Amino acid sequence: MKTIIRGGTIVTAADIYNADIAIEGEKIVAIGQHLTDPDAEIIDASGQYVFPGGIDPHTHLDMPFGGTVTADDFVTGTKAAAFGGTTSIIDFCLSSKGQSLHDALEIWRKKAEGKALIDYGFHMMISEINEQVLAELADIVEQGISSFKVFMAYKNVFQADDETLFKTLVRAKELGAIVQVHAENGDMIDYLVNKALEEEKTEPIYHALTRPTAAEGEATGRAIELAALAGAPLYVVHVSCAEAVDKIAEARKKGIDVYGETCQQYLVLDQTALQKPDFEGAKYVWSPPLREKRNQDVLWNGLKSGILQTVGSDMCSFNFNGQKELGRGNFAKIPNGGPLIEDRLSIMYSEGVAAGRLSLNQFVDMTSTKAAKIFGLFPQKGTIAIGSDADLVLFDPSVTRTISAQTHHMNVDYNPFEGMEVQGEVITVLSRGTCIIRNKTFVGKEGHGKYVKRHKYSMYGNTPATGPVHLPGTYTGLQMI
Ligand code: URP
Ligand code: ZN
Ligand code: ZN
Repeated sequence: MKTIIRGGTIVTAADIYNADIAIEGEKIVAIGQHLTDPDAEIIDASGQYVFPGGIDPHTHLDMPFGGTVTADDFVTGTKAAAFGGTTSIIDFCLSSKGQSLHDALEIWRKKAEGKALIDYGFHMMISEINEQVLAELADIVEQGISSFKVFMAYKNVFQADDETLFKTLVRAKELGAIVQVHAENGDMIDYLVNKALEEEKTEPIYHALTRPTAAEGEATGRAIELAALAGAPLYVVHVSCAEAVDKIAEARKKGIDVYGETCQQYLVLDQTALQKPDFEGAKYVWSPPLREKRNQDVLWNGLKSGILQTVGSDMCSFNFNGQKELGRGNFAKIPNGGPLIEDRLSIMYSEGVAAGRLSLNQFVDMTSTKAAKIFGLFPQKGTIAIGSDADLVLFDPSVTRTISAQTHHMNVDYNPFEGMEVQGEVITVLSRGTCIIRNKTFVGKEGHGKYVKRHKYSMYGNTPATGPVHLPGTYTGLQMI
């Protein structure tokens, strides 16, 4: 199958230029002016940007959590992602104490296989370190899972202690993996939550008030110290506040190999959302919580200046009716998470690029390229280059749309950005050369998404050399006119 994307403006993390893109099979085979091929389907991209497909490095699909299971699985979640311009996700494979990592992986593979509509990889959660886990990790990395996740919060659920984190860091360094942390001090939070409940403070806002920024700053700093001691790279997920940004900035200044991810919700929403009446604040309960508005500028500046590198969604959706409602009368029982996979690129383009906070190249870098580099997908994904997967997003910057649960594609009954007007819209999306969204209509299919084996971590995102890029076929039939 051959396709030519004609007349668009190609935007990568490095360049902006007008050119056509020729695709053969799953790969980009040529980029140039006025490409033509009688056998190719032509997709007109005039007036549109052509971005590399978005990469969401932080999703939770089909995940049991908070006494229920996320409303979106690998079918509905990846379909919504595609509508939003995301063509690859890296989902968190949960594991529990006493469970073999291979068994955990098998469960997660089954959730995704034959269902995902876009490509996917996994991060492996580490809940304990013992001889078996240490041994299993080598093969887990060989299977393309080069990132391990440690939760420093959710006491008695996911939380691991510092010994586990440190040993995970040491093993990750040996194996060429990167460790990710959910950095909040779970013990401090547990104390504050119990105290609030004793004082009959049960409303959703207490979710935010019992998880102060100090708890995130402290845990971020602690994780960085441990990573520096181990000499291992560290990736801090869902950074939400100035205290955590400061710790990452200080560490990076010292040359410590630490990365920070934030999420669009922390950039545009604030803590007051949790005070909405009629329990509606529960729609905004996730961890870390939304923060006071003053943190938003710090996060935007963190992204702009390179202290933070990526924007993930932290997709973890629960319906308001029947799921968020589990926490009526006790904020600690509200399932933590939000429906966030679909609007990531929209919000980052609109509030970032269109609002003048970010350049187009920065937008691509933080929604796609950097995640590909940090997590071992580059240059297969995360860029537009000859030999790369033809994961492409055609984006019309001239239109506006209003975000709403009435029109979104996530399997949930609300959207946290309801009523927000955004500039620009995803029009057409290709995943490995196949159109999955065409003129805003879904044309993909269940099971199209493939598991992507990721490379080991490398500081500059360089994939180890594997010889010349292999292109399917030749350039026969492609000519400049
Ligand atoms: O509240 C959240 N963020 N839910 C998903 C799990 C996590 O902490 O990332
Ligand atoms: Zn988390
Ligand atoms: Zn998460």
